[in-house]
Order: sequence, then structure tokens, then C-alpha cells
Amino acid sequence: MNVDVGTRGAEARRKLAEMTPTSAAMNEKSADLLPVEIVPTFEMPSPLYIHSAEGAHVTDVDGNTFLDLTMGAGPHVLGHRPKVVEDAMHEQLGRTWHLVLKNDRQHELAELIREAAPGAEKTVFCNSGTEATMYGMRIARAHTGKNRVAVFDGCYHGAHDYALVKADPASPRSEPTAKVLGNGVPDTIRDDTMLVLPYDDLAAFDLIRRHKAELAVVMVQPVQNSVPRADVGPFLQELRDVCRECGVLYLLDEVVTGFRLGFGGGMEYFDVDADLMTWGKALAGGMPIGALSGKSDVMAPLGKTWGDPEGVFLGGTFSGNPLTMAAGIAALTHMRDHRDTIYPKLNEQADRLAAIVNGFCEERQIGAELHNAGSIFHMHFKRGIRTSRDFEGSNHEAEQEFYVHLMARGVIVPGIHLFFTSTEHTPEDIDTIGQAFCDALQDVRDDGLI
Ligand SMILES: Cc1ncc(COP(=O)(O)O)c(C=O)c1O
Repeated sequence: MNVDVGTRGAEARRKLAEMTPTSAAMNEKSADLLPVEIVPTFEMPSPLYIHSAEGAHVTDVDGNTFLDLTMGAGPHVLGHRPKVVEDAMHEQLGRTWHLVLKNDRQHELAELIREAAPGAEKTVFCNSGTEATMYGMRIARAHTGKNRVAVFDGCYHGAHDYALVKADPASPRSEPTAKVLGNGVPDTIRDDTMLVLPYDDLAAFDLIRRHKAELAVVMVQPVQNSVPRADVGPFLQELRDVCRECGVLYLLDEVVTGFRLGFGGGMEYFDVDADLMTWGKALAGGMPIGALSGKSDVMAPLGKTWGDPEGVFLGGTFSGNPLTMAAGIAALTHMRDHRDTIYPKLNEQADRLAAIVNGFCEERQIGAELHNAGSIFHMHFKRGIRTSRDFEGSNHEAEQEFYVHLMARGVIVPGIHLFFTSTEHTPEDIDTIGQAFCDALQDVRDDGLI
């Protein structure tokens, strides 16, 4: 985006450039070999290469230390390099990190998931949230014999073709048509297999009823990445009831919310259950992982070989590997054993940060709002947004500039603008971050952008 940078913006950029020469050189060197950052949506306001990380902080290759709100896009609920996870991985490394052949750790992690979510009667492991939601859709089709999958506008379910649909902004709010995200996704997926539903809208229930004969599953994030809200419990509960009434499976995508909103994830936080659940992110203390869990009857096709007409195909060389399992067992055991202290504190601190920032915006009449559900945050530069259909009219120039200022003030939020706190963010860190947000908002205002 071409932003007309004001005096403050120019100062912030100059400061960042002076602080980060080694990162800049690495960025230049990488350009011909790596076409994009690992995930282009995570691009930093200024290129930054991380050398080490500890707790709530990351240190770059130039030796600058920042307060991190990226938190690995969610996995680091316990902060960077939690000792319990590191020790467990060291111990496992001394034994084996073999692949494919059975290991003695998967069972333990599956037990912990079942403790967190009683509906997780069976679990299958994979390596990412993307794989988990892909398998969730497949198993739902296999179980129901129906083809279509419904997702909500504004939810994200990973990077596979079936997850890359959203509402066409030109279509009616109450009956959106699907639009694919980016190039390269076959039109047939959009037209023949997906149904996009309006989020937090009663019209979604009518659409489910109308399409029930062809709908295998309705997928939803307990908390949307795009507008995290803590008041959606009644909507999620009614959605579950409508799915049940219609004979459509209900899949809660807990990839972000699992082990973050509470040990029992979004299901516990919103008091809702599901037929299928997908996990990832925090499940393995920062190691790559995904998992699909579900009720025994729904997961039954996984017990058959894929040669069987009812069997479902799964693959994955690295799936369920012992090193990842060891990290997950350590992280989840710690979270379970300290759930009564970890989650109230994490959620309370998060609410306090939102109150600091939103109080400042109200006091100064700044058109921005920090949304959060527990420690999941997304800031919007327009007030009163409830769903992604309200984005029009957001002040994107101010938004882009804000994160440059925030970084120059020592706090990192990645380009996706979805961010997280962790158990390692101290009350003092929250104060520092709150102050940095307010100062960065004032910088943007001083440049006349907001
Ligand atoms: C709700 C949700 N589901 C699935 C995914 C995909 O997970 P992964 O990035 O591990 O493939 C994400 C990633 O952010 C997510 O937020």
C-alpha cells in the first residue's frame, strides 16, 4: 500500500532502518531465492529476522529486543521456549525422533485432548491446522454421505483449496455467494462443494435448513480471527442445535482457541459441544501439529482401511512424530495442571489491555477499536465492527502506519494484524504494551491520518 507518510511516520521508519541493518541486508539477499516470506500475510512493518526468543520477547539479528505479540500466530500460549516443553524435547531427542513407525507418545497426547474436550473420543494427528480441517471435511463427507461443506464468512480454516472461500462483498449479507481467495483455486470447489454463511446472523440458520439434504458439515471458529468477540456463545449454541436438528455435523475449528481460551478451548469458554474438533497451534507447545478429534461414531471411517468402500485416506510422513508428541504432552500437562491460575490470569490481562486501548480511543475520539476474546486480539480502524461484512470504510492507511509506529516503539504485531498475549507477558509488559499502543495511535493522529 502506498501510504502518504507524515513527519512522525518518516521518523519511525528512519529509526527502524537505523536499528535493523542486518535484517535489511538479509532481506535483500533473500529476495532472489525466496519469493515471499514464509506466509506473506505475516510480513512485518519493517523486515525483521529473529535470532532468539524467550518468554514474551524476541531478539533480532541486530540485537534489538522487542515485546512480541505475534506469539507464533498463536501457538506460544506459554511464551517462547517454555522450560517444560524444552526439557521434554531434550529428553525425547535422546531417545528417538523416528517417523511413521508407531511410537509410545501419541496415546498420551490423545488422552490429554480427551480430558480437555470430552467429545474428543478419537483423535488423529497431522502436522498443521490446514491438514486437520481438510481431514475434518473429508471425514464429515464420508460419515454423512453428503458433499457440501458450510463455512462462515470471516472465519479462516487454513490454506487448502476447500478453505479458501469467503463472501463476495457484492452479494447480499443474508445470502452471500462464495468468492475464492487468491488465484489457483478451481471454480468447481466454490460452486459445487462450498456454502458460505453469514456470521452471527439468523439468516445462516435458514440457509442450513434449506441446504440440509446436501450439507455434510458446518464449520465454525469459536472465535473469528478477523473480529475476535467474547459475546458469541448464544450464536454458537444455537448453531449447534440447528445442525443437530438438520442432521448436519458440527465442527468447531479450535486451531486458535484450543488450549488458549481455556484448557477446554472454545468449547469450555462458550459452553458448547461439537461432533468434530480441529486442533493445532498451542497443542504442541510451538512444534508443528494439527489434529482432528470427534465422537467415535463420526470417526468410525478412520478405523477402516482406505481399500474399504467406507474407509478414508490419510497420509503424513511426519504426523504424530514422537518429538512433537513429547512437546505436546509437556505443554498440555502443564496447562491442565495449572488451568485454574493460567487462564483466568491470561484472559484478565488481555481484557485489561483492551480496556486501556479502547479507553484511550474513546477519550480521544479515535476511530479505532481493539477487539478481543481472551488473549486473541484484532484491532480495527473503524468502530463498531461486528463481522467481516462491516469492514468497508476502515481506515487502512492509519492501520498500516500504526503498526510501523508500534514496532518503532518496541512492540511487534505481524502483517496479519491478528495478535496474542501469553502467560509470560507480565502485568508490567501489559502496561508497556498499552502505553505503546496509545503512543502509536497518537503518532498516527499527529500525522493527520486518523
Ligand atoms: C482457525 C484456524 N484453522 C486452521 C488454521 C490453519 O492452521 P495452520 O496454519 O497450522 O495450517 C488456522 C491458521 O491460522 C486457523 O486460524
